Amino acid sequence: VVETVALTDRLVVRTWADEDAAALVVIGSDPEVVRYLGGVPWSPADARSMIERYREIGDSLGVTSWALEDRRRGSLVGHCGFARTNAPCFRPEIVEIGWTLDRRRWGEGLATEAAKAVMPRALQLFEPWRIVSKCQVENIASERVMQRLGLRRAGTIRRAADNNVVYRLP
Ligand SMILES: CC(C)(COP(=O)(O)OP(=O)(O)OC[C@H]1O[C@@H](n2cnc3c(N)ncnc32)[C@H](O)[C@@H]1OP(=O)(O)O)[C@@H](O)C(=O)NCCC(=O)NCCS
Repeated sequence: VVETVALTDRLVVRTWADEDAAALVVIGSDPEVVRYLGGVPWSPADARSMIERYREIGDSLGVTSWALEDRRRGSLVGHCGFARTNAPCFRPEIVEIGWTLDRRRWGEGLATEAAKAVMPRALQLFEPWRIVSKCQVENIASERVMQRLGLRRAGTIRRAADNNVVYRLP
């Protein structure tokens, strides 16, 4: 069953439905959207396994990256939320907040609105120092969301050609 996690002015933040896979494929078909997410468009199988992974993370971590639905139109606009970080230098159990929006919905403030709505869920489970956000240094749009959220730049992680900037709560 689909559960509402948070309501904002423009968004329903909710758990995933199997039917979201089709909209994820459309979102992940835009090269700009996947540019810093591996660069490969999302197949229907990718979309289904993303949904499965988000459900597993929610079950095991207590927070996950949730579906963002446009309240007025009822359409899936992207996702936002938490995962265990993939950076091996953070142990134990640092969680990372992230976001992805349909290319057609960039520039409306929806990622910032969603992130503000989900942050309290992680703060119920994790001390503030355990919450980070990071992105490739070239991913200015994502870094700007971090800044709009009031996060502070904490440093960079350099691994071969993959340089990431890290932000944390002040
Ligand atoms: C990262 C990403 C979600 C950011 O999307 P975005 O639309 O730039 O971010 P927001 O939704 O917060 O929108 C902010 C913009 O909307 C504008 N805006 C309009 N109304 C706003 C409001 N009420 N509140 C805040 N911003 C608002 C802002 O002026 C801002 O524009 P600016 O960047 O020119 O200042 C998007 O670029 C994306 O999906 N990227 C691909 C996936 C990805 O790389 N994810 C991160 C991996 S680490």
